[in-house]
Amino acid sequence: MPLIEVRDLSRVYDLDSGRVTALGGVSLDIEAGDLVAVMGPSGSGKSTFMNLVGCLDRPTGGHYRLDGVAVETLSGDGLAELRNRKLGFVFQQFNLLPRVDACANVELPMVYAGLDGKSRRERALAALARVGLGDRAHHRPMQLSGGQQQRVAIARALVNQPRLLLADEPTGALDSRTALEILALFQDLNREGVTVVLVTHDAEVARHARRVVRFRDGHVIADVRQEPADARLALAAHDTAAPMPEAAE
Ligand SMILES: Nc1ncnc2c1ncn2[C@@H]1O[C@H](COP(=O)(O)OP(=O)(O)O)[C@@H](O)[C@H]1O
Ligand SMILES: [Mg+2]
Repeated sequence: MPLIEVRDLSRVYDLDSGRVTALGGVSLDIEAGDLVAVMGPSGSGKSTFMNLVGCLDRPTGGHYRLDGVAVETLSGDGLAELRNRKLGFVFQQFNLLPRVDACANVELPMVYAGLDGKSRRERALAALARVGLGDRAHHRPMQLSGGQQQRVAIARALVNQPRLLLADEPTGALDSRTALEILALFQDLNREGVTVVLVTHDAEVARHARRVVRFRDGHVIADVRQEPADARLALAAHDTAAPMPEAAE
């Protein structure tokens, strides 16, 4: 049974100015353990698709099963619980709370899950260590680089041990080396069994996926499997090809 099973899924917006078909009937299976890149031009329906798969939005037509559960049969509470238990989200703009430290940001999903303070703190610190930020737990987002903020967001997404990580343009705000670090982390998590679906504009990012699905005008127009590039190898090559400049001045 696929982890994600989407059949003729659509999302239409009825606006005063007319109807907008954001997603025009998409059918797609994603197997547990896969690492999928979703590509396509701006406005092609990528975020709409991710929001439906992530149960942040409801379709106007079609069917969606997540891990065998027909999502359309769930109530609002049921959806929220499913989201909290099975899904982690990462966005381009990190979406961290600015006034609290990394640890408190990572604790947030566990507050919703009703865990006690001590367990929350322990698990948040473990998740931060997992993404290489064990020594930054008490920094606020402003005190961290973009790549570090995105790793906090990934720690937050992982803290309830989801089966599925959804990332919408997770490297869109990062430089190419930092993007590779994030991809290396996704590849590690994927090897540990987390299914990853990430949206990207960037063919260089998509090379690190096992499968590339292309959207256009709310439809899937291509779907190919590939041998993924290894982000850790690319990182090593990146550092050899572009050494840090000497302190010349
Ligand atoms: N809340 C909304 N109301 C009206 N139209 C929307 C809304 N969200 C998205 N759309 C439209 O749906 C289409 C797909 O958008 P989106 O899924 O965000 O594309 P992408 O992520 O590929 O750039 C676009 O034409 C967009 O303008
Ligand atoms: Mg988008």
